[in-house]
Amino acid sequence: MRISICCTDTKPEPWLAGLQAALPQAEVSVWAPGAPAADYAVVWAPPQQFLDEQPHIKALFNIGAGVDALMQRNLPPEALVVRLDDAGMSVQMAEYVCHALIRHFREFDQYEADVAQGKWSYRRPRLRRDCPVGIMGLGVLGQRVAQAVAQFEFPVLGWSRSAKQLTGVQCFAGDATLPAFLSRTQVLVCLLPLTEDTRGILNRQTLSQLRPGGYLIHVARGGHLVEQDLLTLIDQGHLAGATLDVFQTEPLPGGHVFWQHPKIIVTPHTSARTLRDESIAQIVGKMLALECGEPVAGVVDRGRGY
Ligand code: NAP
Ligand code: GLV
Repeated sequence: MRISICCTDTKPEPWLAGLQAALPQAEVSVWAPGAPAADYAVVWAPPQQFLDEQPHIKALFNIGAGVDALMQRNLPPEALVVRLDDAGMSVQMAEYVCHALIRHFREFDQYEADVAQGKWSYRRPRLRRDCPVGIMGLGVLGQRVAQAVAQFEFPVLGWSRSAKQLTGVQCFAGDATLPAFLSRTQVLVCLLPLTEDTRGILNRQTLSQLRPGGYLIHVARGGHLVEQDLLTLIDQGHLAGATLDVFQTEPLPGGHVFWQHPKIIVTPHTSARTLRDESIAQIVGKMLALECGEPVAGVVDRGRGY
């Protein structure tokens, strides 16, 4: 079995060592132009030339959950595209969202500012029933986040493409239900894939439907958010602020207004990181299953784009 590694912005050596150790009989290499075609590839945003050189590859294993960068390329027509299926990401995402939610809800930043000035002051307790949390995207990550938020006894709503029944989550499905979902939501969490249907979905028209004083936790992709619309709604006072992990341009350019905005918290696309050992174990398991003709989880539906 020949395996090629082609990952932009990722050091290939540890992946090479891990894959080779797990599959000693395989020929694993880091791609260079003109290398022999592979049976399988481990990829992140690979250049088009790599894909053009693999017309008969069996599967492309994306080392992230989101496949938007890959779906923008011309892919070998027969290749399976396989996303990372949790592999340790959902618990990280649950931590991140719960942290951002509770920091906002309990006003910990304001307490920190008061304490920094030597002030022993109390704030009026907020009620959970006044803070319904709406999660856009109820997939691998969204469902785990919904469960974690529900553990803290917030009302939880979820929105997805297909209808779902999840304990403790008021589920909405399809475009027609988006206004009802948004108008009941105080804290909005975006965990959608970036597709033709979802690009720009966090815009003035949708965000203004959130309850007054609403808050955004955006952990999906920069392309979902119309950044100026968020700023306008915060400046007009309709939204209280946002925690943002993803941006139109990454790294966030120096001088971007988000860096210093008093109501926006920025993190550098780190809410759920790819964990190498878990990911290699998952990918190797799937390669072996495919070699035996068995189905694998996490295969991307190219028509839907996720
Ligand atoms: P997933 O399992 O594919 O789930 C996607 C969810 O979005 C599904 O519930 C799907 O609905 C829903 N959806 C897709 N298109 C929709 C539409 N047009 N309208 C309504 N709902 C729609 O994906 P995941 O593993 O949870 O990951 C979600 C995204 O998180 C990734 O694509 C990636 O962009 C992002 N991510 C970010 C980080 C980070 O560090 N910031 C890390 C990992 C992932 P159905 O259930 O009906 O199909
Ligand atoms: C990270 O953003 C991922 O899609 O895994």
